[in-house]
Amino acid sequence: MKNTVATFRKAKEEGKKLSMLTAYDYSTASLVDAAGINGILVGDSLGNVILGYEDTISVTMEDMIHHGAAVARGAKNALVVVDMPFMSYQGSVYDALNNAGRLMKEGRANAVKLEGGIEVVPQIKAIVQAGIPVMGHLGLTPQSINAFGGYKVQGKDEAAAQKLLDDAKALAEAGVFAIVLECVPSALATLVTEAVDVPTIGIGAGAGCDGQILVYQDMLGMFSDFTPKFVKRYANIGEAMKNAFQSYIEEVAEGVFPAEQHGYGISNEVIEKLY
Ligand code: KIV
Repeated sequence: MKNTVATFRKAKEEGKKLSMLTAYDYSTASLVDAAGINGILVGDSLGNVILGYEDTISVTMEDMIHHGAAVARGAKNALVVVDMPFMSYQGSVYDALNNAGRLMKEGRANAVKLEGGIEVVPQIKAIVQAGIPVMGHLGLTPQSINAFGGYKVQGKDEAAAQKLLDDAKALAEAGVFAIVLECVPSALATLVTEAVDVPTIGIGAGAGCDGQILVYQDMLGMFSDFTPKFVKRYANIGEAMKNAFQSYIEEVAEGVFPAEQHGYGISNEVIEKLY
């Protein structure tokens, strides 16, 4: 059955944990969807894991639309959430509404995600009012990496913890259907989860959240530029891929691949006439 924002709401009410993973293309989305995930995030982390940038700042609306539409074609049951990239919503309510609309119309998203707290409440209210579900994102918000001065755990002192709690309440009040909490101390994430009536989806925020999300390349061992502490590796697909690529290279060099069964036949008569 198709997961919707109502599924997310109900899960919180019933105390059922939600699972989300990222995906950026059709075939991965099909596999993640078939596994029974609740939601797929087409994250702007695609800047790192797909496009090889060192941060998410350069990701464009066109990137998000291109990958969002591919994922949407593969996701039959998962709720597809597409990230609003850097500067597609921060500048004005008009930009936010226009770009959220493009992610729905052209990127075939079921919902959009944007980063930030009280400062983006006007944008969230306008998007929600237009009938577009919004997921919030607090804590370590990678689009603000230059303001943070690095990838650091957020909300550790009293003022920062209070701000995070106030931001979460403001987002819930503004109408988000869920909030991602990234790199937040576990006890603070639990407190936030208890304080809001929408599900929290944690990444490096402990087991007290209503759900969890991971970048799929991290959990499959396919991206080694940087592995955060919160990642659990569920398989070593990166190694398996490298081994398969090496076997292929060796077999091509040795003439083992392609074998007879990998080719197409033609009658000898046809070939003989060509000589
Ligand atoms: O872009 C992304 O993948 C994200 C997750 C880390 C939550 O925002």
